[in-house]
Amino acid sequence: PVGAQQFIPENATSLDELKTAAAKCEGCELFEPATQTVFGRGGADARVVFVGEQPGDVEDQKGLPFVGPAGRLLRDAVDAAGIDASNVYITNSVKHFRFELRGSRRIHQTPGPAHITACRPWLVAEFALLKPEMVIVLGATAAKSLLGPSFRVTRSRGQLMPWPAAAQFPDDFPATQAQALATIHPSAVLRADDRDQAYAGLVADLKVAAQAIG
Ligand code: URA
Ligand code: SF4
Repeated sequence: PVGAQQFIPENATSLDELKTAAAKCEGCELFEPATQTVFGRGGADARVVFVGEQPGDVEDQKGLPFVGPAGRLLRDAVDAAGIDASNVYITNSVKHFRFELRGSRRIHQTPGPAHITACRPWLVAEFALLKPEMVIVLGATAAKSLLGPSFRVTRSRGQLMPWPAAAQFPDDFPATQAQALATIHPSAVLRADDRDQAYAGLVADLKVAAQAIG
């Protein structure tokens, strides 16, 4: 893939400007079968940024991140953790839905390393404008994009990490005063055998972030 960089306006001053440009991104092949680009959502003054994997089937159709079942669960967990939803910006590591057609059904496919790398410049551009205080990394794909290939969510979830954690974040990430915290993806909670326990774990991790931002 050629990557998203060449589609990003230089010196963008607003998230809307980025979103408009992202609608035309052809940085990797995922733009073609998908319905539309699903850009991040939230205010420019958000202090907390959540980074998921990629839009799902519902998000692809509505053009908004986390508006399907995983999104509902995430919103509940954010509330339960005491994080003010008006302080939150939500986005994804990859901004087009990757799927496989089975008959008329569109089956989610995890984005590959090439998609994650191709799409990361959008994330970098969002961070450059947002300058968040807290970055919540949801699941393995976001961890690969932001924390490097050797990061393990299961091992290091729920722990505050300084930003930039020298060896982990890519060089081109804008420096901010942010802290980061990784946790499981809300879709993993929906798939878990013991859903209540998995949900409680997600909320407990988010409470660590909530306390840190006060
Ligand atoms: N899962 C994600 O990672 N992002 C969404 O927007 C929806 C589901
Ligand atoms: Fe561009 Fe990302 Fe969509 Fe690929 S997934 S076309 S890099 S917005």
